[in-house]
Amino acid sequence: MTLVFNYDNSLVNKDEIEEIRKLTECAHEEVLEKDGPGSEFLGWVDLPENLDEEEYARIKKAAEKIKSDSDVLVVIGIGGSYLGAKAAISALTNNFYNEVDKDFRKTPKIYFLGQNISPSYITDLINIVKDKDISINVISKSGTTTEPAIAFRIFKNLLEEKYGDKAKERIYVTTDRNKGALKDLSNKEGYETFVISDDIGGRYSVLTPVGLLPIAACGIDTDKLIEGAKAAKIKYSNKNFWENDACIYAALRNILYNKGKDIEIMANYTPELIYLSEWWKQLYGESEGKNHKAIFPASVTFTTDLHSMGQLIQDGKRNIFETVLTVRESEKDIILKAQDEDLDGLNYLAGKSLSEINYKAFEGTLLAHVEGDVPNLNIEIEKLNPYNIGALFYFFEMACAISGYLLGVNPFNQPGVEKYKKNMFRLLGKPGF
Ligand code: PA5
Repeated sequence: MTLVFNYDNSLVNKDEIEEIRKLTECAHEEVLEKDGPGSEFLGWVDLPENLDEEEYARIKKAAEKIKSDSDVLVVIGIGGSYLGAKAAISALTNNFYNEVDKDFRKTPKIYFLGQNISPSYITDLINIVKDKDISINVISKSGTTTEPAIAFRIFKNLLEEKYGDKAKERIYVTTDRNKGALKDLSNKEGYETFVISDDIGGRYSVLTPVGLLPIAACGIDTDKLIEGAKAAKIKYSNKNFWENDACIYAALRNILYNKGKDIEIMANYTPELIYLSEWWKQLYGESEGKNHKAIFPASVTFTTDLHSMGQLIQDGKRNIFETVLTVRESEKDIILKAQDEDLDGLNYLAGKSLSEINYKAFEGTLLAHVEGDVPNLNIEIEKLNPYNIGALFYFFEMACAISGYLLGVNPFNQPGVEKYKKNMFRLLGKPGF
């Protein structure tokens, strides 16, 4: 297990942690024993070990078929039915994945849809993919969410016009075992379906077929992803607080929140992690933002955002703490060469790798921000690989559940999300609203 969690610079002292230790242990116990609020949604806790082997084999087979007969995979979903796959694929493939030559990539291009209702986004995607061989993975636990339902209706028509009766062989559905419009449609049309079980909410579903099918279709080793999550499950089930970083992270967040630090910024130093931050934001925002309480989860990518948000973080209102996710080694690296004429003044960096320079940027920023009274937590992984990403997913899920209980909310529901839907349906004239 290579995830290293370090809070030496968090400006929180051991006594403060000791004060909240017992409460955190109780919250952790509630998660493990499944007897806290929302306990009917704790299926993800044992998920890495409880994978349905028959279904997992079908996922791998479907991924192979998609790789063999499709230039493009369109993944349709929103929220928890979107961000996990997007996060893993962004973290574990080429930064310019869709641009890589097919002979080298050997997997279909991937596009995400159904996460907005933007007419231009959908039109542009249709124009990009319509002449290619397409498969669709439509993902919706409820099977009734408007955004993916609209996108699926449009793309289902496109596939039917293109492939006639054979369209159904290119449509893969991930939804509830028994209920919902998508399930009914799949039964009628004969689509291959995968199940999101009742006891796992969307934002905790990345290690179910929701994430696994698109991730596998992009050629990522899902066995290793699950292996990483399994190792994390063992590690973060440890009831010894001081040996359990998920407990420590949750406790530190709570202490900082109670000191008025009610914005947490997830910072990374490589763009592959932008969507891991987006996934994390959804996980923590939707889990904790209730009863007029919350730590507002924000994210930045450094060094890019040191030239935009850096000023605010260094010098703005002191209600922020940062959690920095660093990757120690990069398999791809570049060494800067010396030049005879040092016109750009960079010869002092000759012989150094970009990884080293990027790491120094991290160290320099850490010092500056801590000096500026921004507590910093650091999560470091050795490298970006499926094992570590699987471990990170599990780590953040476990810490989020504990954190939600510490905050006194049910981390597994999202009643607030319904409010906009009701208004939108009423304004659109949906029957019953
Ligand atoms: O985490 C959640 O539960 C939500 O973000 C859902 O994933 C999101 O609203 C999509 O729901 P569904 O999968 O039912 O379409």
